[in-house]
Amino acid sequence: MTTTDPTDEPGYTSSYLADQHTGQLARLRTLECAFDPLSKAVFDQFDLPGQPTILDLGAGAGSFAGWLAQRYPDAIVTATDIDTRFLTDIPGIRVITHNATTDDFPAASFDVVHARALLCHLTEREDILSRAVTWVRPGGWLVIEDVSLQPSLRTSNPLFRKVAQAGVALLEQSIGSDMLWADTLPGRLRDRGLSRVGHRTLEGRIGDNSPADTFWSATTAQAGPALLKLGLLTQNDLDAMANLRADPEFTDAALTLVSAWGQVSELG
Ligand SMILES: C[S@@+](CC[C@H](N)C(=O)[O-])C[C@H]1O[C@@H](n2cnc3c(N)ncnc32)[C@H](O)[C@@H]1O
Repeated sequence: MTTTDPTDEPGYTSSYLADQHTGQLARLRTLECAFDPLSKAVFDQFDLPGQPTILDLGAGAGSFAGWLAQRYPDAIVTATDIDTRFLTDIPGIRVITHNATTDDFPAASFDVVHARALLCHLTEREDILSRAVTWVRPGGWLVIEDVSLQPSLRTSNPLFRKVAQAGVALLEQSIGSDMLWADTLPGRLRDRGLSRVGHRTLEGRIGDNSPADTFWSATTAQAGPALLKLGLLTQNDLDAMANLRADPEFTDAALTLVSAWGQVSELG
């Protein structure tokens, strides 16, 4: 197992969430299981051209890119990631190693550009969002989906609130994530001149054995060593939280996946 020092330079690829960690593929599968249903429902509402070109930016383990290739059999689906190790053997997709922070695409390359659970983790999120707009053809769609941890910070349960605050602090310190940015997405798309801006949300809970609960648990387990090392939580806190989550009487709102979309003007 590769370990990372949480005091390293902040950033996704040096963090406890990076792809080299044992268990990361399984954790990404829990994310996909929780979030794919909303992403699919959002795409199903678009009337795309016969042979659409679709970009999935930061595609992770690729379940959604694979679904896009099946859903639109004549599409050209491009899946990118800074680390493409999990994007092998997915039928119908084109895989490119691409750093969203530094690498570009030519203007108007795609009918749809999609990014999920990516920009909230990248400190350059505002610049990437602006550049992603330019990659969309006039009349095409930008779809940005990100996770907000706002619900967990609002819990009335003191232990869950402590763990949530520690998790948000760890994400900020070790990656540079902004776990409330997702709540502002529709406005940010409007600010960039997109039209027909819309959004839908998926409310994820913990303690109910839902896919979101499984994702929350897998991510918290992966964060454990870094939370302890930075002194954000104690082992007692982590054990007590595991017991609380397993308590049949306990369930609470934990996170929101915000899916926001907008259309690039035909007039440019
Ligand atoms: C939380 S995962 C989400 C994966 C996928 N979008 C999904 O929702 O299933 C974030 C992904 O972003 C990738 N990533 C991190 N920094 C990146 C960057 N600068 N450019 C492109 N991808 C990046 C990671 O390697 C990881 O696969």
